[in-house]
Order: sequence, then C-alpha cells, then structure tokens
Amino acid sequence: MSKCIVIGVTGGIAAYKACEVVSALRKKGHEIHVIMTKNATEFVSPLTFETLSANRVSVDTFDRNFEYNVQHVSLAHKADVFAIVPCSANVLAKVAHGLADDMLTTTFLACDCQKLLCPAMNTKMLENPITQDNLKICHGYGMEILASGDGFLACGDIGKGRLANVEVIVDAIEMLAAKKPSNHKRILISSGATKEYLDPIRYITNPSSGKTGRQWAKIAYNLGYDVTLVTGETSFEDLPFIKTIKITNAKQMFTEIKACSFEQDIIVMSAAVADFTCNKAENKIKKDGEALDLHLEPTQDILKYLGENKRPGQILIGYAMETKDLIANAQEKLVKKNCDYIIANTISDENKGFKADDNEVVIISKENVEKLPKMSKENIARCVLEKCEREKRCY
Ligand code: CTP
Repeated sequence: MSKCIVIGVTGGIAAYKACEVVSALRKKGHEIHVIMTKNATEFVSPLTFETLSANRVSVDTFDRNFEYNVQHVSLAHKADVFAIVPCSANVLAKVAHGLADDMLTTTFLACDCQKLLCPAMNTKMLENPITQDNLKICHGYGMEILASGDGFLACGDIGKGRLANVEVIVDAIEMLAAKKPSNHKRILISSGATKEYLDPIRYITNPSSGKTGRQWAKIAYNLGYDVTLVTGETSFEDLPFIKTIKITNAKQMFTEIKACSFEQDIIVMSAAVADFTCNKAENKIKKDGEALDLHLEPTQDILKYLGENKRPGQILIGYAMETKDLIANAQEKLVKKNCDYIIANTISDENKGFKADDNEVVIISKENVEKLPKMSKENIARCVLEKCEREKRCY
C-alpha cells in the first residue's frame, strides 16, 4: 500500500545514497517528499531529488516561496514515516534536543509519525560519547536508529560510521510505514536451508533461499507481533528490527527453537530442515578411486517435536513441499505433526516455490482445504496470519 514518506537529507558524502533510497521507494509506489539541509545541497543537487521523487524539494525555512513552505509543514500531519538519510552528527544533536532552525529540523519536530535515523559519520564522531548519548536520547523518544555498517569511510578511516545498506534502509522505512501497534503476541519463524557438513568443506543442503521466512517476519512485524527469526544462511541482509538467530545445521536450529518455543503464541516452520545428517569428518575426505558410502542419521523432526509439546492456545504452522499427492501428503503431515495449518506447495516451476518471489499454495487445516491463487510470498504470509487471527485460534 502506498505510504507518504519524508526523507530528510543532511550534509555528508553518503547523501548520494539517499538518491537510491528515494528511487527505490518511488518504484515501490510510495509518495516521497525530500527536505534537505543547506549543507546537503553541497553534495547532491535538489534537482536530483526533485527528479527522483517527482515532488518539489524543500531546503530551508527562509525559502521565499512561503506558500510552499506552509504546505511542506503540513507534511508533518500527512507523513507515515520521516527518515533522515544520512543523519549527520550535527543534525542528530539538533533532533535529540528539539532544535528547529531549518526546514528539515522544523518539520521533523512537528511530525508525530514513525521516525528513523540513519547515522553516517566518521568513526570517532560516532564513538564520541556525546553522539552516543544523543543516539540514546533519540531512541528514548521512540525514534528508530539504523546502526551504521562497518567499512571503508570517505575520510580514509575503516570502521563504524558508514550508512546502513540502501536495501536495509528501504526495508526499515517500509516496515515502519506499515507497522501497527503491538498486539503483545509473540511469533517464532524458522527460515532458509540447513547445512549438514560431511567434512570441513562439503555439506548437504537444499535450494531454500530464506525468502518465505523473511516475508513472514516482515508481515508479522507489521501486524504488531514481537518476531523472532531463526534462520539458516541466506544471501540477504539482516532484516531491521527483527530478532534474528543464525544457525547452520538442523541440530542448532532445534536447540534455538526449543529454547524459546514455549513462550510463543504462533510458530511457523518455513525452514527447509535437512532430514538427515552425518558425523562431520575432522579433515577433508580424500578420494581413493573407490565408491564412498555415507552413513546418514535422521535429524530431529522439529515440527513434530513442537506439535507434541504444544502449549494450549499455541498455533503451529508447518509447510509441506511435495512432488506428488500434495493434499493427501500434507493432510497426513497435519495430523502426524499436530499442526493447526499446513501450507502445502509443489516444486513445479522456477517462478514458484524455493527461490522465487511468488508461490502457489494450499492452506490445509482440520476443517478445510483452501487453495490460494499464485501470489507473492509476502501476501501468502499475510493471508495465513490474517486467517489465524480471524479464526481466533490463538486468542
Ligand atoms: N521439518 C522439521 N524438521 C525436520 C524436517 C522438516 O521441522 N527435520 C518441518 C519443515 O520445516 C516443514 C515440515 O516439517 O514445516 C514439512 O517438511 P517437509 O520437508 O515437507 O516434510 P518432512 O516432514 O521432512 O517429510 P518428507 O521429507 O518425508 O516429505
């Protein structure tokens, strides 16, 4: 859904990355308004942001186009999110203390929407206790802070202070824009593939990308859940605001899930967990021209364990990936693993399932079988979660 997003740009070399953020958000259909500090215009021209956002850019309070400025302050009432990208140490200090001496800080102070600060500065400036205190003050006022990544800085230093990745900033803004107030419910989501190492180099795995669990985590966060994501290795950046636990093999996934399963209201097992593992050889297995027999042991079926140890009122959602007899096999899993829902899908084409953005699934419960049309993994997660809430299974 289209949201109204205000991007404040402050003076710093990372200002050019704000162009990518604006462009990505606009492509996703959001209404974007950019406010720049005067210093920011030394790095990027307002015209660039005007072209990317398709809206006039505001620079300072003393812009002679007074009517436009009044309109711009009215943004304070309309905005869903106000994100400062990049946020310099100077503007951070101003917003921490309620200073409003230009268009950016004035509008920021007048806004009561979700606020995000993406600091980017020299490592020493970031580490300065004054800056650290200012970050804490802003956080205490309810602003979200997107931690700066480590890396090579424009000043030649290497360390903390880089702007967070564009992809992460865009995720963070969209997640804040869609966020509903907390519903005081906890959800645990497993995602991605596990890896069972044969030796230090080789492992058994599957093509799961972790996209499904990632979309579940985003949707659940937006609907107000307290989300924990237990995930195998993926190629994605970590999701902002989500407690993420990274694991490698099925045994580690079981340990992490078991440790926090009881306190969850909903558990979604979307991970593609290996069914078999083996004892990892200490050194690389050498070939000697002979066939190699691998002895594989079954892993713990995590979903089955969760079904056997389900707390009253807890909702358990499993996935079933089948190559034939989809409904019958999934119904069998529903009963065997004591689940409330099984989301069943087949491996049929590369535009659905494992690595794709979309999937075509059937939601199976004791009561019915509901076939959903092909849709994004995000919408599937939303449909299932809303179905859970509608059917009031966990309340
Ligand atoms: N699952 C699990 N632990 C395992 C294997 C699977 O928790 N060791 C979960 C998956 O996360 C999924 C569900 O069980 O939610 C079904 O997984 P699937 O691979 O479709 O089926 P299996 O139960 O492994 O059975 P089979 O491979 O015989 O179809």
